[in-house]
Amino acid sequence: MTFNLLKGKRGIIFGALNELSIAWKVAERAVEEGAIITLSNTPVAVRMGEVSALGEKLNAEILPADASNVEDLEMVFSKSMEILGGKIDFVLHSIGMSPNVRKKKTYDDLDYDLLEKTLDISAISFHKMIQVAKKMDAIAEGGSILALSYVAAQRSFFGYNDMADAKALLESIARSFGYIYGREKGVRINTISQSPTMTTAGSGIKGMNDLLDFSEKMSPLGNASADDCADYCIVMFSDLTRKITMQNLYNDGGFSSMGMSLRAMNQYSKSLDEFKDEHGKIIYG
Ligand SMILES: NC(=O)c1ccc[n+]([C@@H]2O[C@H](COP(=O)([O-])OP(=O)(O)OC[C@H]3O[C@@H](n4cnc5c(N)ncnc54)[C@H](O)[C@@H]3O)[C@@H](O)[C@H]2O)c1
Repeated sequence: MTFNLLKGKRGIIFGALNELSIAWKVAERAVEEGAIITLSNTPVAVRMGEVSALGEKLNAEILPADASNVEDLEMVFSKSMEILGGKIDFVLHSIGMSPNVRKKKTYDDLDYDLLEKTLDISAISFHKMIQVAKKMDAIAEGGSILALSYVAAQRSFFGYNDMADAKALLESIARSFGYIYGREKGVRINTISQSPTMTTAGSGIKGMNDLLDFSEKMSPLGNASADDCADYCIVMFSDLTRKITMQNLYNDGGFSSMGMSLRAMNQYSKSLDEFKDEHGKIIYG
């Protein structure tokens, strides 16, 4: 179903690598809703990945850039304004990478040079993106900027490692810059905290299959998919959310408000018997 929510809007989507990527789904939905967009990813990802197929399908130009490099970001914003014919209405930061996780370094044995890379690529790049856009006055009045986060910013999750610190910083940048950019230009800045999702980045998380199963069992609405996340991003880019800024918004089927569900407890005890009343009827928790 389409609603023309982004008719006439111009956007930049960072981080579509392949069909599984959350950014891929957001790009497709944005164009479906009437937007014109450019796509950006690292030169290596553009060369090796499938993003050129997405560009062709959506009639979107691809601008290779390292999001931790300020000059690259300046190029992305100036070329995007030129290609799309005006200031940018929405930006998606869908970028995450931890070299410590890749090298299987545990949280109590971090390599600090690699930690700096994790923070730079996964969080400080968001600050760089917004600072570059603001200095170039590249975002239209009332524009919307989003980054994708995870609940490990608030709570400890085994195996999420230094990405938890990166997500906490990412969410803080949304608040700090949201105040400044909102006050001066009416630009909204938010993060969406997404359920675990089986993507290239997601599959790097230790015990991802168990994490997916656990959060599915804990969440009253089940895990949110990449498509669900794309729908939420579209609403946040649209004019329907003009007064929402500096928020971390959960798209997680209710997971972040749960303590324990019957389904998770059952999985833990490996028995349903304890959760039946005297007539054998299951007690739903
Ligand atoms: N998959 C999940 O379980 C999950 C859950 C919550 C939040 N997120 C977040 O969603 C976002 C998108 O991840 P995804 O799950 O779609 O995986 P993905 O692997 O498809 O996307 C990650 C993207 O980051 C890009 N990237 C890495 N280094 C970069 C750099 N220096 N400059 C520019 N781009 C760079 C990659 O090329 C890739 O396109 C990430 O921020 C991730 O942390 C993912």
